[in-house]
Amino acid sequence: MLRFGLVGTGVGADFIARALQVLRGEGVAELVAVAGRRGAKAEEFARKHGARRWYASFDQLLADPEVEAVAISTPHYLHFPQAVAAIEAGKHVLVDKPMAVSLREADEMVRRAERRGVALGVVLEYRFDPVVERVKGCVDRGELGRLILGEAVVEWFRTQEYYAGSDWRGRWATEGGGALINQAIHTVDLLLWLMGDVEELWAYAGTYAHDIEVEDLAVAALRFRSGALGVVQASTATYPGFPTRLEVHGTEGAAVIEGGALKLLVTRGGAAERAEGLRGLESWARPEAVPIENHVRLLRDFALAARGGGRPRVDGREGRRSLEVIRAIYASSRLRQPVRLPFAEV
Ligand SMILES: NC(=O)c1ccc[n+]([C@@H]2O[C@H](COP(=O)([O-])OP(=O)(O)OC[C@H]3O[C@@H](n4cnc5c(N)ncnc54)[C@H](OP(=O)(O)O)[C@@H]3O)[C@@H](O)[C@H]2O)c1
Repeated sequence: MLRFGLVGTGVGADFIARALQVLRGEGVAELVAVAGRRGAKAEEFARKHGARRWYASFDQLLADPEVEAVAISTPHYLHFPQAVAAIEAGKHVLVDKPMAVSLREADEMVRRAERRGVALGVVLEYRFDPVVERVKGCVDRGELGRLILGEAVVEWFRTQEYYAGSDWRGRWATEGGGALINQAIHTVDLLLWLMGDVEELWAYAGTYAHDIEVEDLAVAALRFRSGALGVVQASTATYPGFPTRLEVHGTEGAAVIEGGALKLLVTRGGAAERAEGLRGLESWARPEAVPIENHVRLLRDFALAARGGGRPRVDGREGRRSLEVIRAIYASSRLRQPVRLPFAEV
């Protein structure tokens, strides 16, 4: 059993804690302690999820000798300082997406975890989604031919109250961006997993429907290293919110995942497969409606890797990939020019 301490008691933390309850049943991992800003809330969360201890500060969690791995699900700007403190305390670290708000921070986290010999993982759980894994298998076996186009379309909606009611969302200093870095990052990550790395991009981003600092709408045109083209559309401004769409097109076929379901998988000469209904239809509007199976798979992989001294499937280097593209999109939009990758932040 890998013994976890969890910092944060919000929606992201709830997924992690529920997944750890499943893994306790498997004898793989368990939640032993919870930390938040307020002791009473941490206590309530700990009791709900069967953790033995709760703390009103992160430092107390780190000092708990029973905690072997720290899961971080706090506002984005806290991921870096909390991850570094946990790594330096010799704990394995599993950090929620985005792993950090800048590439400089992400690189420092990877470097320190490698030096201390602890596992660093990022909660990008859709990498473990069976539908996505199936498409990845088709791509890797060449069944879609040479990939020519990849699209990540995240047209969600969030109200002004969603931003106004939070002390960290909607601001560069604390959220690190908007629709891209918070909502679309999962789909950007999957696009890169399927299509490979980006060589160059050109993007526009702005604030269209909310009173916030960060972008609620962004579009980017990508050219992958393979030469294939790509599109990213990210929004929290598109009322009433639409199912996430991920498309890959090759010379011999295509795959379309919409709302978490395989909407179409077709190859030349093969039978086309079409989904009837869409799974998780409500999930782009209500995060708590998302099922936890992918979190369970990700946490199981992380716990087994940490125990065995190996690398989790979504380690710091993998977690950094979507952050790099998102930071490059912000730069392109700000500079009004194309940006080449690998992207070095100044
Ligand atoms: N992987 C996924 O599918 C998924 C889904 C949802 C969210 N997330 C991620 O989860 C993370 C948290 O987001 P959320 O939606 O859960 O946010 P949230 O509801 O605002 O929760 C943030 C939590 O962090 C705590 N916190 C804030 N400042 C702190 C500090 N200085 N020390 C310790 N705890 C502190 C808050 O405590 P209080 O309650 O006292 O304010 C709260 O419990 C983000 O990285 C987000 O992107 C991931």
